[in-house]
Amino acid sequence: MSENKQSTPPPPPTVIEVRDLVTHYGTRQILNGINVDIVQGEIMVIMGGSGSGKSTFLRHLMALQMPTSGTIKILNQDVWKLSQKDLFALRKKLGVTFQAGALFSSMTVGENIMLPLYEHTKLDRLTMEIMARMKLEVVDLAGFEDLMPSELSGGMVKRAAVARAIIMDPRILFFDEPSAGLDPVVSSQLDDLILRLRDAMGMTICVVTHELESAFKIADRITVLDKGDILFIGTVEDLKKHPSERIQNLLNRRSEEAEIDADEYLRRLMGEKLETEGMSR
Ligand SMILES: Nc1ncnc2c1ncn2[C@@H]1O[C@H](COP(=O)(O)OP(=O)(O)OP(=O)(O)O)[C@@H](O)[C@H]1O
Ligand SMILES: [Mg+2]
Repeated sequence: MSENKQSTPPPPPTVIEVRDLVTHYGTRQILNGINVDIVQGEIMVIMGGSGSGKSTFLRHLMALQMPTSGTIKILNQDVWKLSQKDLFALRKKLGVTFQAGALFSSMTVGENIMLPLYEHTKLDRLTMEIMARMKLEVVDLAGFEDLMPSELSGGMVKRAAVARAIIMDPRILFFDEPSAGLDPVVSSQLDDLILRLRDAMGMTICVVTHELESAFKIADRITVLDKGDILFIGTVEDLKKHPSERIQNLLNRRSEEAEIDADEYLRRLMGEKLETEGMSR
């Protein structure tokens, strides 16, 4: 029998490198010196109790919030050392969806999806419409571009928000609680979509969720945060058999997540974003 000498493929490159990340709100320390590498093509799920710092951490990964100290390198760029122009260019490569999956209620689905194109490109309207239709197809919403968000179901709104997040073909896609407010069937369809985006489009995806079932279904690796520290980073299998009682308790804890009004969330978000942009330079 011939020996099967397989050369191991090179490991996928790191797309986000976080080192010694410390964050405060006022005098309160929220993240206590976090280290994570996220590699190309993986789905990294971030879990942890309510208030443990998941959304804060995600905003750092999305280059939206500046830490107190530590470094964040995204696609080999040291985020908070970039000029405003380079930071803007970097953010174009990041696809962002928000906790409430918010769409602007006064615009059609198609207009919502084209927003990043208006912001970042000089494409003509017809090209934008074609691109929007292509992305709507990816999220199984072909033909819905002329409807208003209020005419869509909750799951469809989320998928439309995903179409908007991927309109610029981002390298990395971020979700904060994608299945909040969805019933289990619709939530599971959203998980399938997230898996499809990784497999068909090769995206790197970071997802904050407290839904264990969803995390176990989609995660290549899971990061567990607890009071600003990382309790665990590793695969689903390793997490399930982890001996720490603290981790098992966290895993078994029921969600205490409150529902957030979409418009209120957007307003808060835009306020926060402006604030962090002001801080950046
Ligand atoms: N902009 C802010 N200003 C002051 N404190 C904040 C701000 N954002 C979050 N916090 C506080 O920081 C802590 C971590 O918040 P964060 O939203 O990151 O937690 P989380 O893990 O996402 O929680 P949840 O599961 O409820 O979404 C919380 O105690 C929160 O109250
Ligand atoms: Mg959160």
